Amino acid sequence: MASANGKAKASSTAPAVNGTAYKVVDHTYDVIVVGAGGAGLRATLGCAEAGLKTACITKVFPTRSHTVAAQGGVAASLGNMGPDNWRWHMFDTVKGSDWLGDQDSIEYLCRNAPAAVYELEHYGVPFSRTEDGKIYQRPFGGMTTEFGEGPPAQRTCAAADRTGHAMLHTLYGQSLRYSAEFFIEYFALDLMMDQDGACRGVVAMCLDDGAIHRFRAKRTILATGGYGRAYFSCTSAHTCTGDGNAMVLRAGLPLQDMEFVQFHPTGIYGAGVLITEGARGEGGYLTNSKGERFMERYAPHAKDLASRDVVSRSMTIEIREGRGVGAENDHIYLHLDHLDPKILAERLPGITENAKVFAGVDLRRQPIPVLPTVHYNMGGIPTNYHGEVLTRKGDDPDAIVPGLMAIGEAACVSVHGANRLGSNSLIDLVVFGRAAALRCAATIEKNTAQPDLPKSADALALSRLDKFRFAKGGTPTAALRLKMQKIMQTNCAVFRDGPVLKEGVEKISKVWQESADINVTDRSLIWNSDLIETLEFDNLISQAAVTVVGAEARQESRGAHAREDFPKRDDVKWMKHTLAFADDRKKTVTLDDRPVHKNTLTNEISYIEPKARVY
Ligand code: SIN
Repeated sequence: MASANGKAKASSTAPAVNGTAYKVVDHTYDVIVVGAGGAGLRATLGCAEAGLKTACITKVFPTRSHTVAAQGGVAASLGNMGPDNWRWHMFDTVKGSDWLGDQDSIEYLCRNAPAAVYELEHYGVPFSRTEDGKIYQRPFGGMTTEFGEGPPAQRTCAAADRTGHAMLHTLYGQSLRYSAEFFIEYFALDLMMDQDGACRGVVAMCLDDGAIHRFRAKRTILATGGYGRAYFSCTSAHTCTGDGNAMVLRAGLPLQDMEFVQFHPTGIYGAGVLITEGARGEGGYLTNSKGERFMERYAPHAKDLASRDVVSRSMTIEIREGRGVGAENDHIYLHLDHLDPKILAERLPGITENAKVFAGVDLRRQPIPVLPTVHYNMGGIPTNYHGEVLTRKGDDPDAIVPGLMAIGEAACVSVHGANRLGSNSLIDLVVFGRAAALRCAATIEKNTAQPDLPKSADALALSRLDKFRFAKGGTPTAALRLKMQKIMQTNCAVFRDGPVLKEGVEKISKVWQESADINVTDRSLIWNSDLIETLEFDNLISQAAVTVVGAEARQESRGAHAREDFPKRDDVKWMKHTLAFADDRKKTVTLDDRPVHKNTLTNEISYIEPKARVY
């Protein structure tokens, strides 16, 4: 039976798969957003504000989403601290992306950034202020003026060093102003796709009673974040397992540019906890065991504020060449001890506390031990700048997947290309969260019936759930996860090389095969963390596989992908996006590609031609 939005709420029982019958609850909405980080909340509030029947499903309480950990700020050319212009921001972003970003999307991002930040201000984000009451902006890596020819830009709008925290709380509060519904502590299992390849919604499990919920929707927006936890040392929360990306792979759709993994230069040594780039924006600098400010050699102009890939590589070279600090010469020092304690208290209170708790140092007097640490995934679900998911269909590399959208770190729009600039993530969340909501408002007919779900809509989700719930193999999930994380850390790191990547492909493939031998001990349906961690591991391993296979295949160096055997960027062969498909049954990866968009959105700026990327 067809039903109108939000009205149908039936309860039924799914047939037993492994001896268990699952209680199934059906919901119908115009829009389902999966994930309640910055992007998910901005889309949720935008759709609800537009009068669309909207629900947001999230595996953690919204204000605990990983956006809460973003520190330094959100990029927008407000020009509060000196001249600025969205075109300069666009130039920096294209250059930062090492010319792998789509220039139409980058124009959309940079042009809309100032309005998005003022909107946040009006929503109530408590930005730090200048003396005359304007939003305070600090310098961040790779952000310049005059198309790279002028001095560094102060473009990163900050709420001290807790900008993500402030944004997340404000956006959640705003979402509650409208009639968006939240399904909190629900774990999304799989997409519901129909025979025409359209997405018809998502299946999720309620964590506290194990009931299965089928959310039927005209649009499903994936805002499920990155998959940093595929690595051993990362700044990402334990929840960052790329659940949406993995659902897309299982639906037979591709992920894009997954080989591009960002290492943040300043993760706390040993703990991986983030020390914001804003620390260097406020005047912090890096030194080696000789006390040298070595960034002067690698990036004479931008120095410690070169882009993240450049700084991470420079630090790695210093350590490799024996100039690391500490008993094992295996890390670097970040100095803030020369800064006025008043500045530290006002602008960097969060990292002052983190340095104390996680490194045991008083940063007013001592340097912080730091190491490049996995921080961000440039790759993800391919989309256009409206947030609509794309796939290759025959000769069409930009075919829209009906009903499915993606935003935030889960998506690859692609504005970050091969390397993201610091503070371009938070602006990506709000600009494209808003864009997705605008697209939904423009294209969804309200209060119209939706066709019935296909009969087997939840088959994939339930059979996978059941397979892991009753898994009786000999290997605990934690053992496989650790193996995967160590392989990714060793074989797909800051510097990469053919034989090491080849070994990585083989080893990750083996771990993927070994998941057939997984052992889950808890069979219950009430807060079964053993089961959820297993489903999350299963999500991570397919993403680890497409990452390392894509990295082995790309025989060039571009942005965060630094091949020692192919040290140069190769625009002739490789200025293209990688598309990676995974076969979950055979545990294999297939690669394809799609062209980089060289067109801009308007004629107010023309295509930014590739050139050597020096800072
Ligand atoms: C930072 O503050 O360095 C992290 C923010 C970002 O990754 O953009």
